[in-house]
Amino acid sequence: MNTRPIIALDFPNRTDVESFLTNFPKDESLFVKIGMELFYQEGPEIVRWLKSLGHDVFLDLKLHDIPNTVEMAMRRLAGLGIDLTCVHAAGGVQMMEAALNGLKKGTPEGQKRPLLLAITQLTSTSEEQMHEDQLIEVSLEESVIHYAQCAAKAGLDGVVSSAWEVAQIKEATRPEFISLTPGIRPAGSEVGDQKRVVTPGKAREIGSNFIVIGRPITQSETPYETYVQIKNEWNGEQK
Ligand code: C5P
Repeated sequence: MNTRPIIALDFPNRTDVESFLTNFPKDESLFVKIGMELFYQEGPEIVRWLKSLGHDVFLDLKLHDIPNTVEMAMRRLAGLGIDLTCVHAAGGVQMMEAALNGLKKGTPEGQKRPLLLAITQLTSTSEEQMHEDQLIEVSLEESVIHYAQCAAKAGLDGVVSSAWEVAQIKEATRPEFISLTPGIRPAGSEVGDQKRVVTPGKAREIGSNFIVIGRPITQSETPYETYVQIKNEWNGEQK
C-alpha cells in the first residue's frame, strides 16, 4: 500500500496549481495526479516542474490507440520521469504489451520504470450503456474482471477500479496486482458527481493499493489539514 493518497490536480493551468501548492509545507513530498486538462494546457513542462519540486507524478492520460503509436508515446512519457501512468484495457492485450515495452525502453538508465495500470470500464459507464454502446453482453462486473485479466496477461502492474471491485480483481488476477481507486470521500464530505464512494479507511480495509482524491482536498478551505486527515485515515492512524 502506498502511504500517500494521490491528489488529483484537476486545475486548468500551472498558476492555479502553484497557488494550491502554497498550502503545503515546502518539503512535503506529495503524490499528485496530472490529468488531460492540465497536461494539454501546460504540456510536458508541468511534469518536469512537479518532479523538480520532489513530488511523485501519476500522469493520467488514458492512452488508447494502435500498439505502435501507444508504444512510441509511452517512450516519451517515461522519459519525463513519471512514476505511474495508464492506458485503456479496451485497446487490447497487444496494445497494453506495447505500452509496457515503450515504458521500459523510455525509462532513463538507473531510474525505475513507471508503473502501468489499465482502465477497465470507466466508472461513468453504466451497464446499460455498455450493452448499448459497446455491444458487450456480459455484466459490467464480468467486463471489468475480464479487462483486469487482460491487463495482467499483458504484464501490467494493475488496474484503476472502483474500491468495490478490488477483492474480485485480486482474486481473478493475483494478490499483488495493484488496485488504484478513485471515488474516495472522507466521512461526512460532499460526494459531488461521484456515485459509489468509499472512505479512505474503507478503501484500506478493502485492499486498495493507491487512492486518488481530488475535490475534498483541492476545494477544502484548509487543504493541508484535510490532506493530513485523509492520509492518517488511509494509514489507519486515526486520532
Ligand atoms: O475530485 P475527485 O476526488 O472526484 O477526483 C477523482 C479523480 O479521479 C478525478 O481526476 C477523476 O477524473 C479521476 N477518476 C475517477 N474515476 C475513475 C477514473 C478516474 O474519478 N474511474
